[in-house]
Amino acid sequence: MVLKSLTVEVFNKKRSFGEIDTALHNDARTVIEWMRLNSKRRVLAPKAAKKVDSQIPSNLKRTFADMSSCVTLGKPLKLSNERRDAVEDALRPMFSSFDDMLVAFDGWCGSDDFDANEYYSASRSLKYTATNLGAQNNLSHRCLDMLPRNSKLILDVGCGSGLSSQVAVNRFTGAFVVGTDASVGMLELAKHGSGRMDVIRADMQQPMPFRKGCFDNAISVSALHYLVKDGLKHCMQSLVSSVNGKVGIQFYPKDEVYANLLRRVALDAGWGDASLVLDQPHHTQANRWYLFLSPNKCEPSPICRMYHQPNTSCYFRADFCLESIDEAHSQWMKDEHARFARKILRTNRHGDSNLDPVILQLVKELRQAIGVTSTIPPLDEFKNSHFQILDTVLHSRPSV
Ligand SMILES: C[S@@+](CC[C@H](N)C(=O)[O-])C[C@H]1O[C@@H](n2cnc3c(N)ncnc32)[C@H](O)[C@@H]1O
Repeated sequence: MVLKSLTVEVFNKKRSFGEIDTALHNDARTVIEWMRLNSKRRVLAPKAAKKVDSQIPSNLKRTFADMSSCVTLGKPLKLSNERRDAVEDALRPMFSSFDDMLVAFDGWCGSDDFDANEYYSASRSLKYTATNLGAQNNLSHRCLDMLPRNSKLILDVGCGSGLSSQVAVNRFTGAFVVGTDASVGMLELAKHGSGRMDVIRADMQQPMPFRKGCFDNAISVSALHYLVKDGLKHCMQSLVSSVNGKVGIQFYPKDEVYANLLRRVALDAGWGDASLVLDQPHHTQANRWYLFLSPNKCEPSPICRMYHQPNTSCYFRADFCLESIDEAHSQWMKDEHARFARKILRTNRHGDSNLDPVILQLVKELRQAIGVTSTIPPLDEFKNSHFQILDTVLHSRPSV
């Protein structure tokens, strides 16, 4: 048996799992990855986990019982019992059992453990900045779409190397941006940016060092998802206190539970309105999530019925973005809405009783509104002749 140390990055921190047989490294990584995913779900969705826990038959072995509770929350662990037992034995010097290991993972996940400064080292910051210019540019514009044009002093939380701040400076004539970030590597790069920007090193999960109401508005691009509940709470409270106007946030939630948690925490912190908005709602792999915060309550914007998340508006129809979406993005979204509507009409043209009832109802209404018989026109024709009808049906409440 050849022993070799096993080190794996878990929750953005390199962790040692001791010296174990090299033949078991791959299996151990599989278990670790599975625990990482499931701990995140258990910690972020404690209610769901509790409900599932109560359904576990009591005659199962303890380790299995715990694992089964997780399996129903996420993907099943694909390892035979023998290989699973071998990994459990090999990891024994570190954890007395898989139960013990799950508890440790839950703790790592639940603590504010992501060390932004360690993760975004000088070299990683450089690489990030070189490769993400275009993507961050687009995401930052979407966040700024909802801020008033006369923003003069803007806060950028988790500004990194300044890609997002730079977009704000360029877009709002005369505006000044203050960026905060925890990574020295990132901030060093941000300092070389515009003269209308300054940076402060600050951890966004701690109270922020700003006077009450000193910023007109704020953005945060691709940063807030690093925080767990307590960190989010502090961050939202700091935003409520230091920002007079609105906040546009883009983030990458692990799942919808996290997106809803972010919204809930914002409302609890004192924001009058917190609206979740989804861009590219039909591309499940490429969804872009936003949270728009406002001091006052807003009317809810329409959802997209092809992606039926009850609390989440469609970016294309989110009222506060309507005037400012740029032409190219707006055209692209129109095309995508039409393409997906045509696709569900085509795939369900012979009727399908297994279809999700919400989609089934939508298909029925679309067919009625468009008057499609058995043939559905080619995409260009379909798009041009039916877009208005599609738009109305897709963004209306279902007629029961
Ligand atoms: C993906 S980068 C985004 C940077 C920038 N907003 C952009 O659009 O390019 C995420 C940033 O969040 C920062 N970050 C993560 N956790 C943080 C924390 N607790 N406090 C402050 N900054 C944090 C990281 O250092 C990193 O610069």
